[in-house]
Amino acid sequence: MTVLSNHTGKQCIHYHHDEDFPELLENIHVKTGWDFRDYKKSSLKRRISLRLSAHNVSSYRDYNSILESDPEEYNRLVSTITVKVSEFFREPEVFDLIRELVIPSFSPEEGLRAWSCGCAHGEEAYSLGIVLANSIGIEKLRNVRIFATDIDEKAVNTARKGLYREDSMQNVSDPVKKASFLKTDIGYELRQDIRHLVRFGTLDIINGFPISKVDLLFCRNMLIYFEKELQKRVLEKLYRALNPGGVLVIGIFESLPREMEPRLTAIDRPHRIFQKPPRPNSNQNCNEHA
Ligand SMILES: C[S@@+](CC[C@H](N)C(=O)[O-])C[C@H]1O[C@@H](n2cnc3c(N)ncnc32)[C@H](O)[C@@H]1O
Repeated sequence: MTVLSNHTGKQCIHYHHDEDFPELLENIHVKTGWDFRDYKKSSLKRRISLRLSAHNVSSYRDYNSILESDPEEYNRLVSTITVKVSEFFREPEVFDLIRELVIPSFSPEEGLRAWSCGCAHGEEAYSLGIVLANSIGIEKLRNVRIFATDIDEKAVNTARKGLYREDSMQNVSDPVKKASFLKTDIGYELRQDIRHLVRFGTLDIINGFPISKVDLLFCRNMLIYFEKELQKRVLEKLYRALNPGGVLVIGIFESLPREMEPRLTAIDRPHRIFQKPPRPNSNQNCNEHA
């Protein structure tokens, strides 16, 4: 049973037959390639119930029929399943640590590949762009590429526009707002030269080919929706995507599987910033936080 509030705020109670749930996930996988089978069941069911309410149906079986007759519903479903809450400089200390401990160990002028995996509407990737532009100078970032990918195509298309409302700007200081954004009628537009640092694309990290040779990889607040085994599989993929000396940042409520711990050095454990061992004889060690 799921108790939900619909768009009018009214509570509705749904009785779904759990035995049809795995079939729904199989169906989504077969028809779209999206594989939600190893996402955490509780949040998955909560999110999918919103689509059932939208169609006024109370069983996964009926919802399956809707998906069959209206394939566009799959896109609405994936958009509902995936939680895209984000903001600029989410956990601001993480970005301070990146500025202080990580950026000095790279030479962005020579080249830097960063990746925000599970980028939602782009706030994280653009925050990194702002940090790099402010600490190094935008004119020196010709060889910097920030890739930003998400499973949700609609989110990625929104991200490309670089338009934000006040609620995602709470951690942006007034001087940064002034220097990096234009004020619009409904919010803020990120400066074009910073927007151009970021390349957006649609990518399902479970089945897709990851970005390769990455120096700085953010994958925050996505793993939390996955079961432990899936977290491990995805983290292995991300580990392989990193260059030697590359830095991995996960969410502060997420953790590395025990088997992976010895293969990464913690630059700052509370903020989940880790480094893959650099090539021997390289001086690319980030300073560890005391
Ligand atoms: C809560 S947001 C995190 C945004 C940002 N990283 C942050 O920490 O603020 C999680 C994002 O992961 C994306 N996501 C979920 N499953 C995914 C998958 N299999 N492949 C790629 N992105 C996925 C969602 O669409 C969503 O935009």
